[in-house]
Amino acid sequence: MSKADFVRVMFNDISHKYDFLNDVLSVGTHRWWKKRFVNLIKKNNPKTALDCATGTGDIAFMLNKSVPEVTGIDFSENMIEFAVERAKKQNSQVKFKVADIQKLPFEDKAFDAASISFGIRNVESLEMGLKELGRVSKSLYILEFGQPKNKLYSKFYFSLLRLYVPLFGLISKRGDAYEYLIASSESFPSAEKFVDIMKKNTDFKDINYTPVFGGIAYIYSAK
Ligand SMILES: C[S@@+](CC[C@H](N)C(=O)[O-])C[C@H]1O[C@@H](n2cnc3c(N)ncnc32)[C@H](O)[C@@H]1O
Repeated sequence: MSKADFVRVMFNDISHKYDFLNDVLSVGTHRWWKKRFVNLIKKNNPKTALDCATGTGDIAFMLNKSVPEVTGIDFSENMIEFAVERAKKQNSQVKFKVADIQKLPFEDKAFDAASISFGIRNVESLEMGLKELGRVSKSLYILEFGQPKNKLYSKFYFSLLRLYVPLFGLISKRGDAYEYLIASSESFPSAEKFVDIMKKNTDFKDINYTPVFGGIAYIYSAK
């Protein structure tokens, strides 16, 4: 099975518990991280935005409070179903579509801003994903897990994750999903390494990053 198939089936399977488990697993902090992320995007006053790997649409809905035209895409049909359901309940104008980041169905530079929160780590070809995100947008914002630079803190954090995250595997009945979360967070390139990969695969000149919670996650912005 390819990584893309594994990831898509996994998110289809956990979609009904995704929001609940996110809140519990992060002890609610993901909401704060996302707010900070969206505030950064809003600073540039985009009129159109594309939220990729949108999941159940958290970022898309938050963006739409000040960005008039927002589209969310994800390749998990079940996640998009939940996002569409949420849109209906909120009477939201956000458009949702099933699509793969590696082959986005949009024109070059169609969006003022593109965002992706906790999604880029899951894309089968990171290079192809970044090329597509850069192609369709005038600015790009990425929120993703990484590794704290302080070695002691990093060791403590990943040991803690290994202790309590398997519990969520039991709840979701997809233990491999949460094993995957730890393994992929521990090895995914972060900080300067990720900025270098962004430079190689996009045409953005101005690329910056900010650590969140000492480097558990990072926010990258590119213009
Ligand atoms: C951890 S969830 C993040 C959801 C949401 N952005 C959030 O922050 O809560 C990762 C999402 O990435 C999606 N995804 C992974 N690879 C993708 C790809 N190649 N194209 C589109 N979506 C993808 C998955 O289906 C899943 O919904």
